[in-house]
Amino acid sequence: MRAQFDFKASSSWGVLRRTPQTPRSSRRSESVAPRRSFRWVVLCGSVSLWLIIGGLALGGCRQDMHDAPRYEAYEGSEFFGDGRSMRPQVAGTVARGQLREDSAMFAGKTGAAFVTGNPIPVTLQLVHRGRQRFDIFCAPCHARSGQGNGIVVRRGFRAPSSLHVDRLRAQPDGYFFDVITNGFGAMPDYAAQIPVADRWAIVAYIRALQLSQHAPAAGLSSRAQERIRAASMPQGAAAAGSGAAPPMPDGTAAAPPAGHQP
Ligand code: HEC
Repeated sequence: MRAQFDFKASSSWGVLRRTPQTPRSSRRSESVAPRRSFRWVVLCGSVSLWLIIGGLALGGCRQDMHDAPRYEAYEGSEFFGDGRSMRPQVAGTVARGQLREDSAMFAGKTGAAFVTGNPIPVTLQLVHRGRQRFDIFCAPCHARSGQGNGIVVRRGFRAPSSLHVDRLRAQPDGYFFDVITNGFGAMPDYAAQIPVADRWAIVAYIRALQLSQHAPAAGLSSRAQERIRAASMPQGAAAAGSGAAPPMPDGTAAAPPAGHQP
């Protein structure tokens, strides 16, 4: 078929190529003109035939790509014995970066219990990172202070509990990680937005935030204790100097400042 066409085409082109060699004025006999036009018809006809065949073939390709035989994720298959198109991992496959075997790190739990401490060593750098992330992701609702009256809540969203209540102070670190990872009641989860290490940084910062509002006085430096005592004394009492150490604001008896010890 192709050879036949080639022959026809070349013979037609042969005619065309020969054409200029014939002197323009001479021998324009009536018998030559019809034969030449017949060849033109054959040439044009075969070219357009091939264009049509080519067009159909290309159209077929296009349709093929529309109806490409592929599977959607989780689609069933009759090809495999287990009826699934998705194939299980080959035995002995080594996970790269997604094993998440460390449940303390990735779930905040050992077994069913929340981990009490942060699996990432708590450094000042981690707390700073946590503060930044908290202010971005949590403060809109929980407020930067953690009191629970963030701007979104003031615009009508359900108010969360303050982070400074005994119940939440007593919760282990893993609990906060879990709330960020899985959400809690009306609060959506932030697993997609906040990477694991940043979630732990936020947990470290929540601890610092809680401590900032509830530090045991005895754990403070003597200078800090002095300042608190001075600030909490009634006006004039500090100057009079009663001698006895006044109680600390949270009611615990303050240890005497180091400089004043006998
Ligand atoms: C869109 C507002 C919103 C954002 C943002 C948000 N929370 Fe919450 N959060 C809530 C609400 C509302 C609740 C209370 C949900 C309920 O009781 O149904 C809550 C509850 C909590 C609780 C307390 C759970 C309990 O036991 O009472 C913790 C802890 C908490 N969120 C931590 C976070 C942290 C950490 C972030 C930032 C990563 C965050 N939240 C971001 C709205 C938010």
